[in-house]
Amino acid sequence: MPKIEDRDRYRQELLMKCFHRNSRESTIINSLLAMNSASLLSQPIISAHNLNHYFGQGDLRKQVLSDINLELYSGEIVILTGPSGSGKTTLLTLMGGLRSAQSGSLQILGQEILGASTQQLTQLRQQIGYIFQAQNLLEFLTAKENVRMSLELHDEYLEQDIDAKAISMLEAVGLGNRADYYPENLSGGQKQRVAIARALISHSSIVLADEPTAALDRKSGRDVVEIMQQLAKKQGCTILLVTHDNRILDIANRIIYMEDGRLVRQPDSVAV
Ligand SMILES: Nc1ncnc2c1ncn2[C@@H]1O[C@H](COP(=O)(O)OP(=O)(O)OP(=O)(O)O)[C@@H](O)[C@H]1O
Ligand SMILES: [Mg+2]
Repeated sequence: MPKIEDRDRYRQELLMKCFHRNSRESTIINSLLAMNSASLLSQPIISAHNLNHYFGQGDLRKQVLSDINLELYSGEIVILTGPSGSGKTTLLTLMGGLRSAQSGSLQILGQEILGASTQQLTQLRQQIGYIFQAQNLLEFLTAKENVRMSLELHDEYLEQDIDAKAISMLEAVGLGNRADYYPENLSGGQKQRVAIARALISHSSIVLADEPTAALDRKSGRDVVEIMQQLAKKQGCTILLVTHDNRILDIANRIIYMEDGRLVRQPDSVAV
């Protein structure tokens, strides 16, 4: 795929050539180039090539991810499913910069993770929202303070009214009236919605969710993923969601299936 600079130079040259031609012709060429540039700009947000991962040392070394090739694009909701122990959480944590890549290539937001320094990984993590099964809310902070915390990590928000932002995000997930509650006084579904608000408030371009509905009843689980879907659409962020929950598969643009550390095609033409 040509680089953006090459495209721009090519575009300039073509426009110069078109200069003496009739205007209709140059309009057509111009719009073709515009279409081309739109497709060039839709580079993957996450791109893994021949990614392998191992746990343990020596005789106990065990391969848990094998030759993972995967690209996630802006605004996509991708569901990752597969049997217990197949490597889903391991892949998710690699994609979130929560563990170092060992072999192959993994690019996140244009940055190669293989060989990245701790500092680079830390910076990367600030651009990613995480939602886990156990919501990891801080018990000694209220719902609002838990959500606010995400913004406190970003210098650009320090001048802004982050309390108001946190409250409006809680309103977006239907918890405007629970802003001052501590997690112990919230239901599982409500806590999960606070976790969503926290993951999405800083407009992360990537949200990684590991079994966000596992502890929830049918209705709360559905509410939680629909809120994620709506907010993601509004913010244009990419969501990678690991789940065993068949009832939420329909929210995905794409479903990928993992078995024994590999991404495999499913018989019913699930895209990989
Ligand atoms: N820190 C670790 N050290 C050693 N082995 C690990 C570690 N974390 C995971 N594993 C092993 O790696 C394999 C993949 O685990 P992983 O947690 O990625 O699976 P999973 O698909 O998320 O499973 P589940 O659906 O049960 O959450 C498993 O065999 C697991 O035992
Ligand atoms: Mg898991």
